Amino acid sequence: MKTYKLAIAGGGSTYTPGIVRSLMDRLEDLPLEEIRFYDIDGERQSKVVVAATAVIREYSDSIKVLDTTDPETAFTDVDFVFAQMRVGKYAMRELDEKIPLSHDVVGQETCGPGGLAYGLRTIFPMVELIDFVEQYAKKDCWIVNYSNPASIVAEGVRKLRPDARVLNICDMPVATMRNMSAILGVERDELKVDYFGLNHFGWFTRVEVDGVDRLPELRKHVSEHGLLTEDVSKIDYRHADASWIKTFKNIKPIMDFFPDYLPNPYLQYYLLPEYIVENSNKEYTRANEVMDGREKSLFETVRKYEETGVLEDAFHVGVHGIFIVDVTVSLAQNLGERHLVMVENNGTIPNLPADAMIEVPASITSDGPVPEYVGEIPYFHKAMIDQQLASEKLLVEAITEGSYEKALQAFTLNKTIPSAIVAKKILDDLIEANQAYWPTLNKSFSEGV
Ligand code: NAD
Ligand code: G6P
Ligand code: MN
Repeated sequence: MKTYKLAIAGGGSTYTPGIVRSLMDRLEDLPLEEIRFYDIDGERQSKVVVAATAVIREYSDSIKVLDTTDPETAFTDVDFVFAQMRVGKYAMRELDEKIPLSHDVVGQETCGPGGLAYGLRTIFPMVELIDFVEQYAKKDCWIVNYSNPASIVAEGVRKLRPDARVLNICDMPVATMRNMSAILGVERDELKVDYFGLNHFGWFTRVEVDGVDRLPELRKHVSEHGLLTEDVSKIDYRHADASWIKTFKNIKPIMDFFPDYLPNPYLQYYLLPEYIVENSNKEYTRANEVMDGREKSLFETVRKYEETGVLEDAFHVGVHGIFIVDVTVSLAQNLGERHLVMVENNGTIPNLPADAMIEVPASITSDGPVPEYVGEIPYFHKAMIDQQLASEKLLVEAITEGSYEKALQAFTLNKTIPSAIVAKKILDDLIEANQAYWPTLNKSFSEGV
C-alpha cells in the first residue's frame, strides 16, 4: 500500500497530540512514513511535538518526525497538509471576545465581531500557506483545513486561490451528532443526517437511523433537556466543559421557537444574543477558560513527561481528530464517504448564490468533495443565511480592497450587532487591537457621527 507524508501547519496547536493519536489509530487505512510539524512559533511547537512524538512512538518506530519553522522543509513532497493555525493565538482570541463584550455585543471567536476580526487576521496567512504548499508539496496534495473562522477562510480561499486543493471542515456537526447518538442510544456512525447552511450557521433537517427519521424524538428530548444526556460522559469529552453544556442546553429555546430543524449550536449567538451577553463574564471569557484548561494541561503534561518519561493520557481521541482523519482517508483512498463539509454552492441550494461557500453533505473523493443536491431552503433560513453571507463576503472584499467602508458594512450586517454606530465603535477598537495583524483599511468617507 502507498505510504504518505503529512504535514501539520499550526503544529503547536493544543489539538495536535489528539489528532496524532487519531492518525495512529488509522495507520492501516492511511499508512504514514513521515509527519512534519510546522509552526511560526518554534518554541511552542517543539513542546507539543515532544508529546506528539511520544504518542507516535506508542504505535510505530519507523514514522519519521520533523519539527520545523521552515516552509520548504515542512512541505517538500508532502501528500497532505492539515491546517490548524490560530493567527494571533489565544491572546488575540481573548480580545476578539472581550472587545465586543465591552460594547454589550456577543464576544465569540468565530461568530459576530470576534469572528470577523479573526477572519481579517487569518485570510492572508492562509493564502501564504496555500502558496507554500503549491510551491513545495506534491501536485495532488490536499490541504484539509480546520483553521477558523472556517467560513470566512473558505470564502477568502475561494476568492483569492480558487483552484487550490483546500477542503474546509468543522467538527461542530459531528460533535452535535455525538450528542444526538448518545440521546438516541446508537453509535454516531449509524446516523445519516441532512444539513444545510454556512459554517457555524446551519440546521439539521433530518436525522436518520436505519432509514427512519428520528428528528421527532430528538425534538421531544430537546424540549425537556436541550441536546444533552444526563450522563455527560456519553458526549465528546471536549464538549463536556461547563460552557459547552450551556451551549447544548440553549438548543432548547431555539427549537421551542423554531421546531422544524435542529440548529447548529453556534446559532445561539445569532438568535439569543442579548441572553448570551447577559450570561457572559466580561472579565473571564472562553479564551481564559481554554488557556487555564486545555492549554495549561497540555504543557503541564509535556513537562511531566520530560521529567518522568511517563505520558499521561491527556489526549483522548475525540470527534475532532477522528473527523479530520476520516475525511483524509476518504480523500486518500477515494472512498466517496459522506461527510458534512464546506463546498462552493453552484446550484446545490438553488435559492442561494452560486458562489456561496455552504456546509452540506458531500461525498469525499480523491478529486475532492461532491455535494449532494439539497434543493430550495425555506425563506426564514435563506434570509438569515443571505445576511450572514453578505457580512462574510463584504469582510473578504474589505481585506482584498483594503476598504474600511466594506469592513464597516460587514460589521453592520452581522446580526449580533444592533446598529451601524455600535458596529463602528467595535470595528475601531478592533483595528487598534489588531495593528500587528490586519492590513490597512482605508476610509473613503469623512466621519459625521
Ligand atoms: P493554538 O493556539 O493552541 O494553536 C494554533 C497554532 O497555530 C499555534 O501554535 C500558533 O503558533 C500557530 N500559528 C499561528 N499562525 C500561524 C501561521 N501563520 N503559520 C503556522 N502556524 C501558525 O490553537 P487551538 O485552540 O489548538 O486551535 C487551532 C486552530 O484550530 C484554530 O484556528 C481553531 O480555531 C481551529 N479549530 C477549528 C475547529 C473547526 O471546527 N473548524 C475545531 C477546533 C479548532
Ligand atoms: C467547536 C467548533 C470549532 C471551535 C471550537 C472551539 O468544536 O466547531 O470551530 O474552534 O469549538 O472550542 P474551544 O474549546 O476552543 O472553545
Ligand atoms: Mn467549527
